[in-house]
Formats: sequence, structure tokens, C-alpha cells
Amino acid sequence: MARKTVVVILAAGEGKRMQSPVPKVFVDLLGRPLLGHVVDAARALKPSAIIIVGGKHLPAMRAAFGSEPLVSFARQAKPLGTGHAVKQALGKLPLRGADIAILNGDCPLIRGESLVQALGTHRKSGVDLSALTAEVANPSGLGRIIRSVRGEFLRIVEEKDALPEERTISEINSGQYLVKVEALRRQLPSVGKKNSQGEYYLTDLVGLCAGRALAQRLGDPDEARGVNRPTELIEARRLLKARLVAEHTAAGVLFSDPDSTYLEVGVEIGAGTLIHPFVVLRRGVTIAAHCAVGPFVQLRDGASLGDGARVGNFVEMKASKLGPGSRALHLSYLGDAELGRDVNVGAGTITANFDGKRKWPTWVGDEASLGSSTVLVAPVRIGRAARTGAGSVVLAGHDVLPGSTVVGVPARPLGGDVAAKPTRKRGGTNSR
Ligand code: UD1
Ligand code: CA
Repeated sequence: MARKTVVVILAAGEGKRMQSPVPKVFVDLLGRPLLGHVVDAARALKPSAIIIVGGKHLPAMRAAFGSEPLVSFARQAKPLGTGHAVKQALGKLPLRGADIAILNGDCPLIRGESLVQALGTHRKSGVDLSALTAEVANPSGLGRIIRSVRGEFLRIVEEKDALPEERTISEINSGQYLVKVEALRRQLPSVGKKNSQGEYYLTDLVGLCAGRALAQRLGDPDEARGVNRPTELIEARRLLKARLVAEHTAAGVLFSDPDSTYLEVGVEIGAGTLIHPFVVLRRGVTIAAHCAVGPFVQLRDGASLGDGARVGNFVEMKASKLGPGSRALHLSYLGDAELGRDVNVGAGTITANFDGKRKWPTWVGDEASLGSSTVLVAPVRIGRAARTGAGSVVLAGHDVLPGSTVVGVPARPLGGDVAAKPTRKRGGTNSR
């Protein structure tokens, strides 16, 4: 039978060095918490379970990640070290016939494909333990990889316990390990805390497995970046953004100034789309092919553009669809709105979607044309090919009939063809 893979993610540390009121693993990194990035990478291993070891923030962790597939939790009451953290998950691991991937919860740049490759090598070589390592320019603060003169992997020494000559080693422990569950059960009890920090170091497992341990060096050392301090978070954000821009560029997206694009994970962009300077694209945004976005645009969760749609110059969209070929080019807010194809949204047009208590939807039919500074008080429906005059305020429930034109405050039909009485009232069931 094929060996199972079970993932254990260590996330019970207190993260004091971040000096942040938000627990470290919840800190946002381009639209996903630090810990979420590790969970996402872990999924590439097709594990049978993902066990997160949490500490005093475990309740918040359950709330944030408890509903994600395969995720369960183990509790480490006190952060007595990474070796102690893994012990708390032992009860949930198979007795035999499984490889355990142990991942630091604060190393969000590790790629799923690197983990998959490392697991393949680990299995083929038959060793008890593999540790991922990286050759880095600045190894300070990290565990150093100690090899014999022949290059065999002997042990990991933490910086605080290292001899001066060991500190000159530039190969570091990147914080991801693959261990046969049998070896883990056999060796973990022997991990002690006789070290400068008085902690149970998971890294001592390497020495205990010496001769049956493999150091697998990452091709891209940036994947090893951990986040312990605010400056490291900024670095991680810069590196991940560059990775996202490169992926979208390879898929045919054009960034005219990637440095001024704020781009989160989980954004879809079609080929041939042009992203102008100063654009914010948040998680959950979908942009089809051959669109133009920006400059100065914020697309928030649930914003979606159809083929060839264009938004630019101080436009914000949230939970709104702009159909193929439609344009919103100046100074607009579109929230909870669905606009059809070939709609023209005039400069300054706003959906007034919030009545102080809740949000309401707006619909705009194909080929409609909204005059400059139109206010659409939701819920309201603008019919196909209808028009609004400059400055019109279309009140909630006063739907504009297809092909008709309304003007003024409140908006009234030019030819008497708007519903004089509300066709719909706020308080109904027609909101999203
Ligand atoms: C650890 C490694 C170090 C490696 C580095 C890579 C050890 C002893 N050292 O150091 O060799 O170079 O990661 O980033 O493992 N955690 C717990 N419970 C604890 C302590 C920590 O769950 O009692 C979790 C933390 O939340 C964190 C991870 O384990 O996600 C690593 O702990 P951290 O204290 O950050 O270790 P480093 O000093 O970075
Ligand atoms: Ca760390």
C-alpha cells in the first residue's frame, strides 16, 4: 500500500519578536494569513490530514482555519520548543507506514512543488529524515547545517548554541522536515532541552537520525525566508509579490508598472489584460481577457470584469460584475452591483448600496448609459439600453424601464416611462 503523508504545522510560538497585537500566524501576507500560505503549500503533498499545533491562540486559529478541508488541531499548552510542539501531535499520527511533513508555520514562502520534490527524494533515498536547507547570504539567527568533511548531514546547531566557526556556515535549516513516522516515534522521546534556550529542539532529531538523515538544499533560497520580525514581513511581501507578478506575466498579463501594483494571492487575470500604474487587486478578484485596469483603481473581493471591460482613474469596485465591453473610467464606486455588457458608467457615478444598516444590490442592463454623477440608490434596476441624465439620483425601488431616460433629483422620466411609485421597497427579500 502507498505510504500516507500527514502534515504537522508548528504554530504555537508566541511570535514576540513581531511586536504586533495580531498573533504572528494571523498577520496578513498579500490577502492570506502567514499560516494560510503554509497550509496552501502543504496541500500540494496531497496529505491525508493537516494538523496545526496551536498555543494560546488556538481558539482564534480554530475560528480562522477550522473549516478548511483536512485541517485539525493539536494543543501545546506552553511553547517549550519545536520538538515539544511536535510531541503534542503524536497522538493524531499513524503508528506506521506514513511520512510526516513537519512545517514551520512562520515560513510562508515555501512552495508546494518544492515540498513535493523533497518528499519524492526522501522516499527514493529511504532515509529516516530529510531537512530542507538553503544557502543564504545572511544566516544570522537561523539553525546551521553541520556536515562532515565528506558532506554527510550530521546535525543542526542553533545559532545561540553554535561555536564561532559554526556561525560562519551559510547553509541554514529552512524549517521543513520529512520524517518516517516510525523514526519520529522512536527518536522524539530522546530530544532533551540541554541547550542555551532550555527548549526541546526539533532540530536535535537530525543528530539522533545521523547516518539516516538527508539535507535537501532548496534551489531558491528565498523559499526559506521566515517571518520573525516586521522587516522580514516586508521582505516576504516583496518576494511573494514579485512571484505573483512573474506568474501573471507568464500567463500573458501586462503590467505597465508592477512596482506600483498591489497584488494579493487569489486574483485571476486573463491574457492580454493591461494593468496600469497604482492599482490594488485584492483576493477574490476576477478579470477576464483584454481588459484595462487603472490607473488608480481598487478592485476588492468579488469584483469581476468581463472580456474587454475597462476601469480606471479612481474607481472602486466591490462584489460587483462589470460585463464584457463595459466601461467605468472615472471616479466611481460600484458596490453589490451587476452591470451587463457594453454599459457606459459616466464619470462620478455611484451605487448607494448601504442604508446605514445593510447592503442592497443594483442591476444595470446591457447597453445602458449612466450620465455623469448619477447616484443609484439600491435596490434599483436600470433596464436594458436605458439612460440617466447627468446628476440624476435614481431612488431605491424606482426602476428605470428598458430604453427609457430619466433625469433630475429625484430622477423622473423624460417621457413619463419610469415607475412613478416604487416598484420595490427596501426591506424586501431582493438583496444579496
Ligand atoms: C527554527 C529552527 C531553526 C531554523 C528556523 C527556520 C528550531 C529549534 N530551530 O528557529 O533551526 O533555522 O526555525 O525558520 O526548531 N513553535 C511552536 N512551539 C514552540 C516553539 C515554536 O509551535 O514551542 C513554532 C513557531 O510558532 C514557529 C515554528 O515553530 O512557527 C518555529 O519556531 P521559532 O521559535 O520561530 O524558531 P526559530 O528560532 O525561527
Ligand atoms: Ca521562526
